[in-house]
Amino acid sequence: MNLHFAQSAKLNLIPVPAKVNLLPGKFEITDSLKVGIVKGNSTRVNKYANRFLSRLSGRTGLFLVYPFVQKVKSGDSADVLISFEKSVSLNNFPDESYNLKIKKDKIFLSAGTDIGILRGLETLLQLLDRDSTRYFFQNVEIEDSPRFKWRGLMIDVCRHFMPEDVIYRNLDAMAAVKMNVLHLHLSDDQGFRIECKTFPKLHTLASDGLYFTQEQIKNIIRYADERGIRVIPEFDIPGHATSWLVAYPEYASLPGPYKLQREWGIFDPVFDPTQKKTYEFFDAFFNEMAKLFPDDYIHIGGDENNGNQWRANERIQEFMKEKGLETTGELQAYFNTRIAGILKKYNKKMVGWDEILHPGIQENIVIQSWRGKEYLINAAKSGYNVILSNGYYIDLIQPAEVHYLNDPLSENADLTAEEKRYVLGGEATMWSEFVSPETIDSRIWPRTAAIAERFWSPQNIKDVEDMYRRLDVVSLQLEELGLTHIKNYAMMLRRLANSRDIKHLKILVDVLEPVKNYNRNRLRKHTQQSPLTRVVDAARPDAKTARLFRRNVDEFIHNGNTVLKDEIISRLKLWKANHSKLTGVIKSNPALKEILPQSENLKKVSETGLDAINFMINKIDPPENWKEKALGIIEHAKEPVAQTELMIVSAIEKLVKYVTQQKD
Ligand code: ACM
Repeated sequence: MNLHFAQSAKLNLIPVPAKVNLLPGKFEITDSLKVGIVKGNSTRVNKYANRFLSRLSGRTGLFLVYPFVQKVKSGDSADVLISFEKSVSLNNFPDESYNLKIKKDKIFLSAGTDIGILRGLETLLQLLDRDSTRYFFQNVEIEDSPRFKWRGLMIDVCRHFMPEDVIYRNLDAMAAVKMNVLHLHLSDDQGFRIECKTFPKLHTLASDGLYFTQEQIKNIIRYADERGIRVIPEFDIPGHATSWLVAYPEYASLPGPYKLQREWGIFDPVFDPTQKKTYEFFDAFFNEMAKLFPDDYIHIGGDENNGNQWRANERIQEFMKEKGLETTGELQAYFNTRIAGILKKYNKKMVGWDEILHPGIQENIVIQSWRGKEYLINAAKSGYNVILSNGYYIDLIQPAEVHYLNDPLSENADLTAEEKRYVLGGEATMWSEFVSPETIDSRIWPRTAAIAERFWSPQNIKDVEDMYRRLDVVSLQLEELGLTHIKNYAMMLRRLANSRDIKHLKILVDVLEPVKNYNRNRLRKHTQQSPLTRVVDAARPDAKTARLFRRNVDEFIHNGNTVLKDEIISRLKLWKANHSKLTGVIKSNPALKEILPQSENLKKVSETGLDAINFMINKIDPPENWKEKALGIIEHAKEPVAQTELMIVSAIEKLVKYVTQQKD
């Protein structure tokens, strides 16, 4: 095992494999490259290997003589030799391990299952390297298997519907970083997003016409399966249920009619858990959905039921007394137990958000911990399978680093070895209040690749700088799968500037990020039809220019590096000069007007930074009152503008504090 070597050799792998042994030499890729299957039978592998060849020729420009995978008899008749034992169903989390040996003139990829081969092909493609004359694979031996078996991405298609093409390209990206669970959040207060033949009012009356047909879902499931990804549907009940009750108000806890919710938050409408007909409804509903979705698991949501309607209904209160249920939480546990019984009848296991964990609930369920890690610990200690989503809320615009260092099973987790086995893995969650099909990729990628690594790679792989280095490479590769996380940025800036010339707008937006956590709606109330085309939407999480600037300033302060000093000064000058050039663009586009104060902030903090560096390098004492004025500018620039944050302010503050520290 030589993990450190893998990193220092600058392989661009995400996730980092379990064991990497670098060998001297290179396998040169020529147009006669032949990929052969020596052992094993799987349509998945055939199709995947053909896509592999197509991606390889796409990246290299080679006109391959054998552009399709071959069946071969012996090792001599191909260059890349694939062998595996069996083709498997994704239920029960099959073995995904593989071995990859790249020698000077042969590549061996072997696995127990066809899924292992898919994972190995992605590793091989990530190993593609070049010099000025040729493409090659570095000689290497890799033994790889995932640390966690559940490595998921949840996409909320309710708050804003995400059509098929969004799902397809995200499945490709998930496969590229070895993720294996797509969790589709299909019902919520704002919409019901799948065709239901038994209860057709669900999709006809409660979706604005934006839903997946069953044919579409079958195609998505097939596409996912071909990539070794299972699809787990979520039908959120008993709360977050307005859309269901728009269609069928007779199952609500208070009389309707109900209207689709257009805003974001927690709302009262909730199913009536006391009526027989409610369970008859769910029995018929899940009977249909259990057939449509082949996965073992169905997610029933269960989050954020405020209980208001249950408290307001006397009959429900009576029911609780009769059954000895003291709280609405206990009533929900009663409901969940009955729903789990229905799912069991259809051979499905239940997944739910951590609110569903209640004494007495069936044992084979999976808890999705979102409110805090204590719910994960509690579930595992109580003997329930659990996955972590707390810390992986990618809608909250945290830097990749935060998610990367969040571990489902940290070294100091207070769990016995036996309890640790209940921790199956985790899921990144893409809630869609503030994303459209145009922006969703930039919120998911590339940060989710860092999360994918956390779920797959050994625990001790956590060098943040190296993660960012590799993320940058893999982010570009994800574009070839049709993801729009990079290309839509310039397009959105062109639309805002109403011009092909976006140079000065880009200089500003490159150092902006959307506000974090739940602040966006606090600062400006949004509804389902609010525009998602503003500067805050073009701005991306983890703004790279700003991150590198902050790092340069840190290093400069610590060791006075003059190359960095020059880089910092030239950046600050560029930013300072940008404002007067951008003002004209902003003034001629009403949609940009809101960002003017942010452009001015960038100018002022840059001037402040230049002053500070000038004092530093010339060893001049800052004049009277300079510090006060500088900190005033900094405090002002910390305030969000049009729900964006200027991400270089903390670095300028460090410079100011550094040059004035003697005065404190
Ligand atoms: C959730 O974020 N309400 C699961």
